[in-house]
Amino acid sequence: MFNTRKKKNRELPTPIEMQAVAIDAFGGLEVLKARTMPVPQASHEQVLVRVAAVGVNPVDWKTRSGAGVAQHVRQFPFIPGWDVAGTVEQQGRRVTMFQPGDRVMGMVNFPAGGGGYAEFVVASDTQLVRVPHGVSLRDAAAVPLVALTAWQALFDTAKVKSGDRVLVHAAAGGVGHVAVQLARWKGAYVIGTASPHNHELARSLGCHEVYAYGGDEPWTTIDDVDVVIDSVGGETRALSLKRLARGGTLVTLLTGDSKAGLNSPTRVRKILVKPNQRQLEKIAELLGDGTLKVHTTVVSGLRNVAEAHSLSESRHVRGKIVVTVT
Ligand SMILES: NC(=O)c1ccc[n+]([C@@H]2O[C@H](COP(=O)([O-])OP(=O)(O)OC[C@H]3O[C@@H](n4cnc5c(N)ncnc54)[C@H](OP(=O)(O)O)[C@@H]3O)[C@@H](O)[C@H]2O)c1
Repeated sequence: MFNTRKKKNRELPTPIEMQAVAIDAFGGLEVLKARTMPVPQASHEQVLVRVAAVGVNPVDWKTRSGAGVAQHVRQFPFIPGWDVAGTVEQQGRRVTMFQPGDRVMGMVNFPAGGGGYAEFVVASDTQLVRVPHGVSLRDAAAVPLVALTAWQALFDTAKVKSGDRVLVHAAAGGVGHVAVQLARWKGAYVIGTASPHNHELARSLGCHEVYAYGGDEPWTTIDDVDVVIDSVGGETRALSLKRLARGGTLVTLLTGDSKAGLNSPTRVRKILVKPNQRQLEKIAELLGDGTLKVHTTVVSGLRNVAEAHSLSESRHVRGKIVVTVT
């Protein structure tokens, strides 16, 4: 089921320079600068990937502005971008899983490193998986970070099982739209929140019930919720805690938010997504067999990456933003 097509132009040498978008300081959209940079070198355990598309996540602009995972940025210029899909250009001597021409995707070099806003990126072979046949590299670039987050929140942390009542906030957003599908695949009863114009989408993804969000909306009266996936925080998290059944768990994705509800450590779990090849392989399988679908807004070319950040910062994107690279 996986694509093992070989690189067509194998005889073409890998260039020594590439186009990239990097930052020299933390700040607003203006710090994102197109520049020519050396193509990175793969170590023995790494793969050099020719990037076809890069997914844009809120952590990209949070980090650009000095929050997010900015504490992991060791030097400037720093190339942001962690969600990539492309083709293998070269592999290190000890890499046996991939060969030039393989179509791959991954959440690479997270939280340190980045490097996705470029024509080439190096990544450990353990952070990549093959892109299934029939799945475009654009769609593939949208998947790794949000799907690993949803998987780790639902299954590793909250141990969701068939029949559980799962409340997914921001059900039409990047993490939310994947979390809804994965929870449903597991056999959960899924309740989502989204703006009214996204209710049809949320239902089509697998929500049994969908509500508008906000402190005085009907979702604040639902009962016996086993698991809440909180990507909103603040009042939403505080109100969600009151909807939990005895023994229920709220998983929050807002690692930097120290407010409401975090004084309830037995019921609130904070997570930061981690690379996991085994989980990403399973996610790729679900993508390949059509169980998991991604909704994307495509921005053309790295030169427009500031537009992608601006869209993401609006906090009302449907699904994921993907920037095409090569
Ligand atoms: N800890 C981690 O490892 C981790 C991993 C991934 C993401 N995150 C964080 O989780 C958050 C969400 O990430 P994401 O990629 O899903 O973001 P996103 O795609 O930008 O989220 C956009 C969605 O949020 C919804 N939304 C906005 N305000 C809302 C509110 N008050 N209540 C409910 N929904 C609301 C919007 O819904 P409508 O358009 O329907 O209004 C939209 O669908 C971000 O802060 C991100 O940094 C953390």
